Amino acid sequence: LDNGLARTPPMGWMSWGYYMCGDKCDDKPEKCLDEQLILSVVDTFYKEGYQEAGFEYIIIDDCWSEKKRDEYGRLVPDKKRFPRGMKFIADYIHARGLKFGMYTNIATTTCMRYPGSRGHFSTDAKTFAEWGVDYLKVDGCFVEEDYLNIAYIKLGQYLNETGKPMVYSCSWPYYIEYIHNKKADYDSVARYCNLWRNYHDVVLSWSAVKAIIDHYEKEYPILEQYHGPGHWNDPDMLIFGTGTLSNSQSRVHLAVYAMWSAPLLLSCDMTKVRPYEKKLLQNMELMAIAKDPLGLMARPYKLANSVTLWVKRHLPMKGDMYHSFSFAFVNVHEESRAVSFTPRRYGLNSTDGYTIMDVFTKDFIRNVTLNDSIDVELPPEAQKFFQGDAPNRQPDVCNQD
Ligand code: DGJ
Repeated sequence: LDNGLARTPPMGWMSWGYYMCGDKCDDKPEKCLDEQLILSVVDTFYKEGYQEAGFEYIIIDDCWSEKKRDEYGRLVPDKKRFPRGMKFIADYIHARGLKFGMYTNIATTTCMRYPGSRGHFSTDAKTFAEWGVDYLKVDGCFVEEDYLNIAYIKLGQYLNETGKPMVYSCSWPYYIEYIHNKKADYDSVARYCNLWRNYHDVVLSWSAVKAIIDHYEKEYPILEQYHGPGHWNDPDMLIFGTGTLSNSQSRVHLAVYAMWSAPLLLSCDMTKVRPYEKKLLQNMELMAIAKDPLGLMARPYKLANSVTLWVKRHLPMKGDMYHSFSFAFVNVHEESRAVSFTPRRYGLNSTDGYTIMDVFTKDFIRNVTLNDSIDVELPPEAQKFFQGDAPNRQPDVCNQD
């Protein structure tokens, strides 16, 4: 969607992955979706380096409202859990230079049976705008296929008419493909939405992460065509900070999402992010690759031994460099693997070669020419994430006469 927003993939935090509905606060206080939780995420982003690393949107997912609209037909935040309302939260977020996201569904109820926006598009768009919402996730449960194709466009128009810029996140292709078993019309999706879900919800398991990686690898030829500044495929949240992944699996998870230029949305109790994970999330080299302005999705190559090599071109990391590539070798298997790699065969093309750095350790690895062969050993469920800079060259124009 060409509305000037989401020029790099949105980054932030979203409640659903870890807190899910979060409306049983008396029984499960540790999974309570309420004002205090949201403000504490804001404070953590603001005070603990996440904001500097690029984490920006704080998004409340399903189950935030009262069960009934007010006498004017407007959505009302749950009075107990959000006693000061959403404008208060938006102001708190904006005062810290961060951005506020909310959720609705395109049907008459949300997936968790709270009020949805069907029949109320105009009112709800105005309400979200008045509250100062910067990002709206719109789910697609419980409706027919034809309606999905019309309603996402219509709701987007109402949002646009409010004049309040809002990143528009659609689950449209997911419901078309997985609920209605049809092919998504990605030309329309990319035209009307800033990002979109197109695969199953992530759950807190390594196999869910692997399934997403596998899906994106298979669907790459289609997905990459629609991926770029203002319009992103959304593979769903990161599961950092949930105690689910080993250190090595966490590196795979983050490396691959960074290589895809995917939205990076955390979903966890921010106080439970381990120092190790925090360091990964605040690795500035990695984040620069993740939100590179070209916004390309890395291309997968299946190497011998079932290792996938993801290759992505991006802007130079240093001003005096000609161009840069990142390449991540990913082994999702339970056994170690060894592969070798010759840059020329995978789209790297600087005849002056590359200076290679390890993105996670920040170590200089070596200089390579296009024909060199690099051997890479991969432990089980691990990656090697390299970034290669090509030295600057005289522009071709100087050689013309
Ligand atoms: C389905 C979505 O895919 C999830 O991310 C979440 O928003 C839930 N619905 C909420 O009900």
